[in-house]
Amino acid sequence: MKNSFTLKSNKSKSLKGILSVPGDKSISIRSLLISSICFGNSKIFNILKSDDIFSTLKSLKQLGIKILEEKKYIEVFGQGGLFKNPKKEINLGNSGTGIRLLSGLISSRQITASLIGDDSLSKRPMMRIIEPLLLMNSKIEHNNGKLPLKIKNNNGRSIPIKYILKIGSAQVKSAILLASLNIKGQTKIIEKKPSRNHTEIMLKYFGAQIKIKKNEIILNSPNFLKPKDIYVPGDFSSAAFLIVAVLITKNSRITINNVGLNFYRTGLLDVLIKMGAKIKIINKKNINGEIVGDIFVESSTLKSIKLSEEIAPRLIDEYPILFVAASFASGISSFKGLRELKFKESNRLIEMADSLKNSGVDLEVEENSLKIRGKIKNKGGAFINTKQDHRVAMSMLIFGLASEDPITIDDPKMIKTSFPNFLETLQKIKAKIDYIPK
Ligand code: S3P
Repeated sequence: MKNSFTLKSNKSKSLKGILSVPGDKSISIRSLLISSICFGNSKIFNILKSDDIFSTLKSLKQLGIKILEEKKYIEVFGQGGLFKNPKKEINLGNSGTGIRLLSGLISSRQITASLIGDDSLSKRPMMRIIEPLLLMNSKIEHNNGKLPLKIKNNNGRSIPIKYILKIGSAQVKSAILLASLNIKGQTKIIEKKPSRNHTEIMLKYFGAQIKIKKNEIILNSPNFLKPKDIYVPGDFSSAAFLIVAVLITKNSRITINNVGLNFYRTGLLDVLIKMGAKIKIINKKNINGEIVGDIFVESSTLKSIKLSEEIAPRLIDEYPILFVAASFASGISSFKGLRELKFKESNRLIEMADSLKNSGVDLEVEENSLKIRGKIKNKGGAFINTKQDHRVAMSMLIFGLASEDPITIDDPKMIKTSFPNFLETLQKIKAKIDYIPK
């Protein structure tokens, strides 16, 4: 029924309310994977219930891990790192984090498994994890650096490595760390461009011998992780859509409770505040090693910003919605070092530039950079081909809340990969966004 419907967003005002967003996608995936190798049962509270998480969960079940889905929590029966050979291919759907982290985790654990994904995931680069994992003696077959991957039993021949990360990628770093947990000796990872550190924080929480020295991560193994309960904070990347919606919509103010505020995730907050956003963080606390707090935000007059490459890993998933904010800010904004945006669920640099251009935004794309000439009034009125990218879909729907004419997207189904109640959450704060027949 829903498949013949899509979403349309209309000019709105007075978005108001106190709300929360679903659990963090990165932390949810890590909590499943890490608890699966503990010696005993862990309970995960507030896990994100989205397609990306379901595909990680199903993969672990195929590998012989028992997982009980209760109303208030998920219970993972950790097997201390023992997995079964799956009977069928493991399908990670749309989840880049799921497939890259799971590949690392199982590559040193004496099983053989084939890993596949949907069309979007099948186009994404896997060499970035294959290369370090091969250095660790993993046996991996691949299709020219893409899916499907076949991870083969290497009969316990894994070795620890010292590795300098070529790109600022938490997925690559995490794949190496998860592979190293049971390899005797010391693994060292050097990050030139530090990225989200949820894996390091969670491993420490579960008792791993991990140390961070400036930009070096040192893991001594083997590690015998003890089970623990874990609370997943709200996803800052989902909150980002609501924050920008309120900033660009007149007479609006909301509070979003219990959002994860990890430094490596919240570059967008620093940038928006520099652009003139009225944002306050309250009730900061530490939960399982992660900083969590409430975000208060109100309508603001935004001015342009110039960003260099350094900040990219701290707001990599928020560029699409930041481009929307820049479209409604006065002056010329410029964004450099956007190369990694091309390897996300779609080529986000091109897809966002095309979508904004079709909606009346004046912009220029260069190889890895973007310039946006923002204005208070944008025309909108476009039909957006989201290329099956959830963040392009949500960003453009938020654009339509402030543009003169509505924005319609081609297909809302991918939104479920990260923010399943996106529509209901926006409707709750009185945003004019609705299902319409296709
Ligand atoms: C993620 C890391 C980032 C991010 C992705 C989630 C993670 O990818 O874009 O949405 O959970 O580790 P890269 O590591 O490829 O930058």
